[in-house]
Amino acid sequence: MQLTVIVPTFNEAPNVAELVRRIDEATVSFETEIIFVDDSTDATPDAIRAAAEAADLPVRLIHRDKPAGGLGGAVVEGMLAAASDLCLVMDGDLQHPPEDIPSMVHRFRHGDVDVVVASRYVGDGDSGGLADRSRVLVSRASTALTKAMFPVRLKGVSDPMTGFFLVDRRAIDLEGLKPRGFKILLEILARRSLRVAEVPFRFAERFAGESKASFRQGLHFLTQLTGLRFGKMSLFAIIGGLGAIANLAIMYGFTHTGMNYLVAAVIAAEITILANFFAQERFVFHDMKGEANGTWSRFLKSFAFNNAEAVIRIPAIALLVNTWHISSVIAAGMTLVVAFFVRFLFHSLVVYAPRRVGEPSRAQKFVDELDTQAVRPGEL
Ligand code: GDD
Ligand code: MN
Repeated sequence: MQLTVIVPTFNEAPNVAELVRRIDEATVSFETEIIFVDDSTDATPDAIRAAAEAADLPVRLIHRDKPAGGLGGAVVEGMLAAASDLCLVMDGDLQHPPEDIPSMVHRFRHGDVDVVVASRYVGDGDSGGLADRSRVLVSRASTALTKAMFPVRLKGVSDPMTGFFLVDRRAIDLEGLKPRGFKILLEILARRSLRVAEVPFRFAERFAGESKASFRQGLHFLTQLTGLRFGKMSLFAIIGGLGAIANLAIMYGFTHTGMNYLVAAVIAAEITILANFFAQERFVFHDMKGEANGTWSRFLKSFAFNNAEAVIRIPAIALLVNTWHISSVIAAGMTLVVAFFVRFLFHSLVVYAPRRVGEPSRAQKFVDELDTQAVRPGEL
């Protein structure tokens, strides 16, 4: 096998037959297989099986009941299953013209690159198929932001957001990828320094059906970008930083109404502890939750730690205020900085540590039971 074409699909039934026919036609000169990695809830799997019968080239279907990682996860799964090291990824809606596959393969065969990107933004490429002006703007702005954040890795890449590319899978660390949402190429290019070439292509209109891009995908993209750029500790710092600002603002507000600063510090701390927990679950440790203990267990540990921290922090603030005569807000700020590092260590090493296998302790059983009860559907 010389080439594996990987097509992630989510409800693309009316596009499958046409796509297979055109790939088949475009790749007659090399030995090719197609792998559909499908998360559909419609008749797409049937359409794929029917197209496989009719096609001259091997067409395989991986249907996932648990669509981990969305589009990006599907692409990685396809690469792991591919018969060839040379993997070409394209959408299933014919916005990526199969007729461009040969020029991508030929470019790769010069032998000097690991990735060939089909770009809308070089030569006579164009992005005409983007649904409307707002999509064009979003695409342009996110491309600019991404390139600004990875000036070195994305130096020669004009279209890091495209879903149409060819890669030698031996050059990438498939296991190390954390595919989330739509932007799998960005994930691949940002994690390792790779040699990239681009060929132009015209982004076409959808053949049938509708786009699955959404506001939610946009949010995914932003967390992916921050995660790739800064890693966990910095994400944790951003959330901790926002929490600290909120903490100080609440304290400032309360002390100005005449409240004692110690009482104000307690109220501000509790509000921030709760908000931080939800934010870190969602944005920082989301990928470790699955292997860690249940939500309640994580919450109790995190809550206990943060309260212990606050209990230690408040006399420390009092000490600083009384001995150094600095303002209570500055003293609180100083203690928050020290606490940050200890808190990060505790959360990554204890709260989100992988569950231990074997007989659970009694406390563990109690918390697990609480967990099960808490998520049970309510009955009246
Ligand atoms: N397996 C799987 N799972 N496939 C998915 C999923 C999913 O959760 N979500 C979407 N897909 C498939 C679609 O069926 C389609 O084949 C392809 O991924 C792209 O989805 P579209 O819904 O057509 O997205 P788009 O046209 O808005 O986005 C395209 O353009 C972007 C650049 O503007 C994609 O090519 C993106 O990868 C690309 O970044
Ligand atoms: Mn599309």
